[in-house]
Amino acid sequence: MPDILDFYAQTHTPYLHARGRRGTGLLLNEIGEVPGEKILELGFGTGQTLVDVAGRRPECELFGVEKSEIMMQVAAKRLRFCRLNRINLFMANSEGALPFPDDTFDVVYAESVLAYLPEAEIRAVFFEVYRVLKNRGVFLLNESLWRKHVSPETMDTINRECVRLFGMPQAVEQIPYPEDWVSLAGQTGFRHEKLVHLTELPENPNFPAFPGSFCSGLFTLGGRIKKNLSHALRLLSAQYRESERSFSRFGLFLEGVFFKFSKPDDY
Ligand SMILES: C[S@@+](CC[C@H](N)C(=O)[O-])C[C@H]1O[C@@H](n2cnc3c(N)ncnc32)[C@H](O)[C@@H]1O
Repeated sequence: MPDILDFYAQTHTPYLHARGRRGTGLLLNEIGEVPGEKILELGFGTGQTLVDVAGRRPECELFGVEKSEIMMQVAAKRLRFCRLNRINLFMANSEGALPFPDDTFDVVYAESVLAYLPEAEIRAVFFEVYRVLKNRGVFLLNESLWRKHVSPETMDTINRECVRLFGMPQAVEQIPYPEDWVSLAGQTGFRHEKLVHLTELPENPNFPAFPGSFCSGLFTLGGRIKKNLSHALRLLSAQYRESERSFSRFGLFLEGVFFKFSKPDDY
């Protein structure tokens, strides 16, 4: 089965993370509170959150790094369509190194990018993010992690099935729970600032439309129309939906978690 992320790229799908647009609302509130001028998104997918952050922090310089070429092409199209030409997009380096000097960013954020990667790659990304953040900079993450009742055997079964059916695992087994991510951040040097279980989203995490939202919505709609007009994409969509249904036997096994970490000041 083809990688589901390629399908999402071809259909311009936005908000591929826990609680979708509402989860991004929480992220934008946090970004709104951080002073500074440089912001980096890791794994921007089809580029919707870059549009939202550009609206929330128009005075900032925005950067993005993405691993998938097809996501990169689609996000670049979205940004051109929204006339957001000032956002700097980079392909991810295959060794996981970020193409920026030390102490560059005030905020680095990622939405559903790290938890499905291999453990070693997650650890490497934490070190790279720490390196490129300025002192007092913040690292914001929305990740889907295993619920406490899920046994290691079930995690393994689900991951194998997901690789077979969707071309990617569901979530890392070696760093399974929120507290494991907090301790990974601590080992990297970060200070833990906040953890929100996204099942308990605070009030009104939705956000108003920004300049660019309308064009971005049209771009998303274009992807949906493309899907409906393409027999191959419709077929794939039906197959993925059917596969998703086969996971209902496991009940709820993931939860969305929002983390805020900061890089301590040296002084
Ligand atoms: C589940 S999608 C989420 C996309 C987007 N953040 C969103 O919420 O809609 C994960 C994205 O992260 C990208 N990705 C995975 N590992 C990455 C890495 N090490 N550096 C940059 N991008 C990465 C994938 O190619 C994919 O586009």
